Amino acid sequence: MKEYLLKQAKEVLYNNFQKKGFTIPSENLYPFQWKWDSGFIAIGYAHFDIEKAKKEIETILSAQWQNGFIPHIVFHNRSDSYFPGPEVHQSKLSKHASKKYASSGITQPPVFGFVLEKLYQICPDKKNILTFIESQINKVYKNHVYFYFNRDIKDEGLVYIYHNWEAGTDNSPLWDDIWETMDPPDYHFKRKDTQHVDPSQRPTKREYDNYIYLIEIAKKYQYDDKKIAANSPFLVQDPLFNSILIRSNQALIELYKIIGGNDKKVTFLEEKQAKSIKSLNTKLFDENLGAYIHYDLRNKRSLALISSSSFTPLFCGAPDVKIAKKLISTFVEKFGGENNYLCASFDPTNIRFNPKKYWRGPVWINLNWILYNGFKKYGYHELAKRIKEDSIELIVKEGFYEYFDPRKGISDLQKIGYGGNNFSWTAALLIDLLNDSY
Ligand code: DGY
Repeated sequence: MKEYLLKQAKEVLYNNFQKKGFTIPSENLYPFQWKWDSGFIAIGYAHFDIEKAKKEIETILSAQWQNGFIPHIVFHNRSDSYFPGPEVHQSKLSKHASKKYASSGITQPPVFGFVLEKLYQICPDKKNILTFIESQINKVYKNHVYFYFNRDIKDEGLVYIYHNWEAGTDNSPLWDDIWETMDPPDYHFKRKDTQHVDPSQRPTKREYDNYIYLIEIAKKYQYDDKKIAANSPFLVQDPLFNSILIRSNQALIELYKIIGGNDKKVTFLEEKQAKSIKSLNTKLFDENLGAYIHYDLRNKRSLALISSSSFTPLFCGAPDVKIAKKLISTFVEKFGGENNYLCASFDPTNIRFNPKKYWRGPVWINLNWILYNGFKKYGYHELAKRIKEDSIELIVKEGFYEYFDPRKGISDLQKIGYGGNNFSWTAALLIDLLNDSY
């Protein structure tokens, strides 16, 4: 069974691999290179084709902007199966943008620090992989410096996102309260996603108006971070994004220590790390809810809602034992019912929960992988085992889908996942989970 699953997963990745040296997340639906996807994909490749893992990272980092920014989509190739494409994003408006590749001007969680570390751990030929890491690590470091200098406007160690697509959790109910404050034009555009996927599983037209409006504002200011920070109606400190930054800081510190030298970089990262962890725990942990929550900088308020992102600080090691205990008890109470697969992307007890609609409730394998590693780190063995087994079971029963219905009865009856099929990170992270002997 394990061998058969691994073979299938490898096929998904190889079929999605493009001649230009990167792997699309899913045919038609996502026909370019996506930032955090490429990180998870590289982890999968590392188990059986290290050259492809390296290529994936090298290709995305080759599109880094001069100021250290890494875009969430790189348009290495042409395709008319996706909206919004390069003509909407117009990265060339920014004076920092890559001269070589068109891209978006928004980013995604900074996964590459921990991805490089994973590659180091997985690859048996340490000398070989370290040479590769040495060739790429300063780009990742530069990306972290970019975040701290441009996105941490209060100098508190927490960086902001200015678009829901930067969070990765695209249409989460978390953002509903922000949409309430906005009134974008009723744009005329042709959605492509709803031609590939049942529209009931995708965001609404009005949500897309918000998404495009935020991009138009950023374009109006030539993607200048200071002007975006001053003017964007969407300015949020996200626990998922910041936990990934912290986890990657730690990985960069460890890797620089293995490489040797680089003392100034290590000192910079260590200073930021201490501040980031402190602020994550003081500003984003809500004692009453027993969970980490988002902070809306623009409207100066907490977004008191619980999602799978609320538990991702376990992945970066920020919570102390007391906070971790509280967090786990909230997790079990809200998400852990035996009729649910782990882990719904949004609080199943909340009225805004929708088990079919993208990030409003379905299970996502990348979040499961992050939580799995977090539970392991803190010694919550039963939960770690359960989330790993649920992930594998969903893929075995339903296929390599983008997301899955968390309701066991419904999910088992439908026997099919949601969104894009043959989804690359689902395959890649399954490979990592199956190779994990824990
Ligand atoms: C999409 O188009 O849904 C993507 O997630 C945006 O990055």
